[in-house]
Amino acid sequence: MSETLTQAGMNFELSEEQIAVRDAARDFAQNVLKPGVIDRDREQRFPKDEIKQLGELGFLGMMVNPKYGGGGMDAMSYVLAMEEISKVDASCSVVMSVNNSLVCWGLEEFANEEQKMKYLVPLAKGEMIGAFCLSEPEAGSDATSQRTTAIDMGDHYLLNGTKNWITNGNSASTYLVMAQTDDSKKHKGINCLIVEKGMPGFVVGAKEDKLGIRGSDTHTLMFTDVKVPKENRIGEDGFGFTFAMRTLSGGRIGIAAQALGIASGAYELALAYSKERKAFGKAISEHQAIAFKLADMATEIEAARLLCLKAAWLKDQHLNYDQASAMAKVFSSEVAMRTTVEAVQVHGGYGYVKEYHVERLMRDAKITQIYEGTSEVQRIVISRGVLKD
Ligand code: CAA
Repeated sequence: MSETLTQAGMNFELSEEQIAVRDAARDFAQNVLKPGVIDRDREQRFPKDEIKQLGELGFLGMMVNPKYGGGGMDAMSYVLAMEEISKVDASCSVVMSVNNSLVCWGLEEFANEEQKMKYLVPLAKGEMIGAFCLSEPEAGSDATSQRTTAIDMGDHYLLNGTKNWITNGNSASTYLVMAQTDDSKKHKGINCLIVEKGMPGFVVGAKEDKLGIRGSDTHTLMFTDVKVPKENRIGEDGFGFTFAMRTLSGGRIGIAAQALGIASGAYELALAYSKERKAFGKAISEHQAIAFKLADMATEIEAARLLCLKAAWLKDQHLNYDQASAMAKVFSSEVAMRTTVEAVQVHGGYGYVKEYHVERLMRDAKITQIYEGTSEVQRIVISRGVLKD
């Protein structure tokens, strides 16, 4: 059986540090994020002050080595924190996820020392935010088909093209941009360049008006003859696609944990409501029709949590987690959809209005089946792994 399906020595007993991280994230979510989350969603307002505070608490560079300004925590702590923040505000947790997993991890793992000192340190400290720019109008799931070009001009690259659906599109200062340098080499001709906001020719385009995670800023980005210095390339020439795939593999643990948090947040609200709300002479939780829904939600959430922790544990042990993160993401995101729909149902008419939070969680859940690889992409990754065994 595949190593990623069973693994000896897995230990999910939480350490004191992990519990402290989880509790700090829970306090922050309940006390700082919850009061304004409905308004931010309605107004599509980026949680600027809240993200600043998250950075000061060390949640934007959780896994980065302290010598680069990070928290030096493990991936399991990251999953625990992502779940707690996502229970309340998935718009905030996507900023956290992209900054931690796609930007900081990618830089720490693959950037050179100068790049780390210049970009990783302020990103890990939360002094600036990063964005990961892979998707294009015609390259979403089919990520090898990059149309954005980075032509080698000797001491710099000339960057041209358009990126779509970029999380932190306007609020970021540092952008990791995948672009094709040598078409004849296909995906082996792709590079990842560090692009700064304000570089001439770089324009942040329209903000998307989204179904969910409406507080996060998702933009189109346009690059017209942007001169990006050669020293801003990450890794060797042609390393960009591998960079993107390796980084996304860890990113999927973050989004799986986000989906888990959306599900468990909706479940906790449904559980509490079902104990208060009376119908036919007793609390609705005492009706089997509702109790069985709660039982199914609790079971699926537990399974999702175990998959998330397993993927994080593998990462912490420096073992391969490509399949495990895809499994965690596809399952957790489907659990998030099912659970939030049922949480609205448990709330009845109240569930359909904003005040009770579950309708927002239901809208937020959908994106977890789409970004950082659709459910179909996760199944490609998983099936290839399974068939290889
Ligand atoms: N690690 C290292 N290398 C990897 C890899 C991994 N995890 N996965 C693939 N590769 C390598 C392969 O080994 C292969 O290399 P060789 O040619 O040397 O053998 C190369 O990459 C191409 O791989 P495939 O043949 O598997 O490529 P494919 O075209 O069949 O596509 C895919 C595979 C899994 C579908 C991939 O394209 C993919 O992941 N697509 C989804 C992209 C995605 O997740 N986009 C999300 C955008 S970012 C985002 O959403 C952030 C946000 O805002 C929140």
